[in-house]
Amino acid sequence: MSKRAVITGTGHYVPPKVVTNFDLEKIMNTSDEWIRQRSGIVERRYAETGVGSSDLGLEAARRAMENAGADPREIDFVIAATLSPDHYFPGIGVMLQAGLGLGTVGALDVRNQCSGFIYALAVADQFIRTGTYKKILLVAAELQSHNLDHSDEGRDMAVLFGDGAGAVVIEPGDPADGRGVLSTHLFSDGRFVRDLWMENPSPRRNPVFDRELFDQGKFFPKMDGKNVFKNASERMPEAVQTALAANGLTIDDVAVLIPHQANDRISQMVAHKLRIPPEKVVRNIDRFGNTTAASIPIALDEIVRDGRLRRGDLVALTSFGSGFTWASALVRW
Ligand code: UT7
Repeated sequence: MSKRAVITGTGHYVPPKVVTNFDLEKIMNTSDEWIRQRSGIVERRYAETGVGSSDLGLEAARRAMENAGADPREIDFVIAATLSPDHYFPGIGVMLQAGLGLGTVGALDVRNQCSGFIYALAVADQFIRTGTYKKILLVAAELQSHNLDHSDEGRDMAVLFGDGAGAVVIEPGDPADGRGVLSTHLFSDGRFVRDLWMENPSPRRNPVFDRELFDQGKFFPKMDGKNVFKNASERMPEAVQTALAANGLTIDDVAVLIPHQANDRISQMVAHKLRIPPEKVVRNIDRFGNTTAASIPIALDEIVRDGRLRRGDLVALTSFGSGFTWASALVRW
């Protein structure tokens, strides 16, 4: 039997600047009441100008490596998940490799938006199972606040997102103790590309960076919130059910569910459809908003560090986001 991938260290980092709903009230036509009621968000973190997602990722990675007791020389592969890389290219994987002083190991960037962490975990899982790598660093980092439309027109999206990063170290486990990633299930439906996307900059255009588009505010992300909401609350429970069935488990076996922190009402619907008690469902959207690919590893690190997650617990992860892409993973902790 191939060795399962075990998460041996976790870490997260969020920038220190707290932006409350009341702060947003001052710059756009919104209200604390609306944001709390519709999303459960109270505050989020924004990075300072000059900071990039790789900087947040570096700090989260350092914490995860320290938590795992991993020496930089032992890391043999890097996977970075982000929709907000520092630059159009290259991705942030190489910046993490250089910034952490890792050897000339491979650095892969995964672009699956809110599902980025689980997609990246699936990749890491395969590399560990095949024995290709022995210590993978997976970092999910997002910096969205610098490209949100903070005018009234962009308020539906601007109030939801925040900056942050989460990281894990993944190693082969001891097959005897049953720990590790049991399975990952990945899905997509590209018919809905336009329902949650950042259309520009686009190399379909010539020139790509067009002043007119810029002046029209067409470099901001856009979404059809209602359709995203509807699909997210259906697809995430479906993905968890698929994972449970594939492993011959039931929802009662799950100790902790970490849904991608998209909207508190979505998480509640996911919990309701899965018939899992709310106390088993992790929630930190009130403090961080939606941090896209980083939301699951940030939540995971919090519950590891506060002792909520215990050795032997079954953890279910699920995500939904732009693409559409969605995914689930079951991990025996
Ligand atoms: O990781 C995936 C990322 N995306 C998501 O998870 C988004 C999923 N969708 C959602 O979370 C919800 O659709 C929203 C929170 C974005 C919106 O909630 P909703 O209950 O679907 O509201 P709505 O779109 O039906 O809008 C209701 C009203 C509208 O005004 P009118 O047309 O009724 O006069 C909006 O213009 O609320 C207005 N509105 C706002 N009002 C105050 C939209 N955004 C805001 C805002 N503040 N920030």
